Amino acid sequence: MRFDGKFGLVTGAGSGIGRATAIGFGQRGGGIAVVDLNGANAEKVAGEIKQAGGKAVAIGADVTRAADIDMMFSRTLDTFGRLDFVHNNAFGFPAALRTGSAAAPVADATDEVWNHTLEVGLTAVFRSTRRALAIMRSQRNGVIVNTASISGLRADYGIAAYNAAKAAVINLTRVTAIENARYGIRCNCICPGAIETPLLVGSATPQMIDRFKEAIPLGRLGKPEEMANVVLFLASELASFVTGAAFVADGGQTAKTGSPSFLPE
Ligand SMILES: NC(=O)c1ccc[n+]([C@@H]2O[C@H](COP(=O)([O-])OP(=O)(O)OC[C@H]3O[C@@H](n4cnc5c(N)ncnc54)[C@H](O)[C@@H]3O)[C@@H](O)[C@H]2O)c1
Repeated sequence: MRFDGKFGLVTGAGSGIGRATAIGFGQRGGGIAVVDLNGANAEKVAGEIKQAGGKAVAIGADVTRAADIDMMFSRTLDTFGRLDFVHNNAFGFPAALRTGSAAAPVADATDEVWNHTLEVGLTAVFRSTRRALAIMRSQRNGVIVNTASISGLRADYGIAAYNAAKAAVINLTRVTAIENARYGIRCNCICPGAIETPLLVGSATPQMIDRFKEAIPLGRLGKPEEMANVVLFLASELASFVTGAAFVADGGQTAKTGSPSFLPE
């Protein structure tokens, strides 16, 4: 997979899956806008890419702000002159939920957690997609990859807004794909399982991490680079006939029914 002469933008690229995607795209010859709420982390990642001989620009932006979405695309175009790839990936739980204290059943869920989660997890993806499409349609070429989750395919206890947002991202991906195929634009999403990033490790207790490992047939958490490999495949010409897909990469977790084993103990 090479991205020579291609230019992209990754949100939430200061950490975890987005960081790995930005670095992977840069390593393979592409130029990349490293967008993150944490501007210092964005600078760090862009610096790493440039030090390795790649092309990158760091952009501090809050994807929940419509003006920041416009700004991140304008700066990307000012820097690179075109846009071939967008990875809508940023997410952060509200502060209260990061400590686990705001996890709540639907019956007790707050508007604050609901609204924040939908803003960053869904509305930002919609706004970014809309802006990317305007650029890509004029080029008659482009690839969008959204980060959904297996939480968009199945239900978790205590994070209803996240489950709802990620399910909506999967269907927004499909709509984007079918409406824009005629313009030479592909749109897919990835559905990661449990991945070893600050988002998961910061919001799950060590006991929860052990339970994740038990639930995953491969017996371990995924690595950010393993998700980036899927994103980069979908962004590449190798996936030229793939659009509207929700690509599960979860170590086998959702392959299971959850029923007890029929095999003898
Ligand atoms: N880690 C997992 O187990 C897992 C599983 C399924 C899906 N995902 C999804 O993967 C994506 C990336 O998460 P990660 O695990 O790499 O987490 P991460 O915390 O390592 O990275 C997320 C990045 O998004 C940035 N961010 C948060 N809010 C932002 C905002 N408003 N504007 C701009 N940037 C913002 C953060 O600063 C952070 O750098 C998310 O969409 C998440 O829902 C993660």
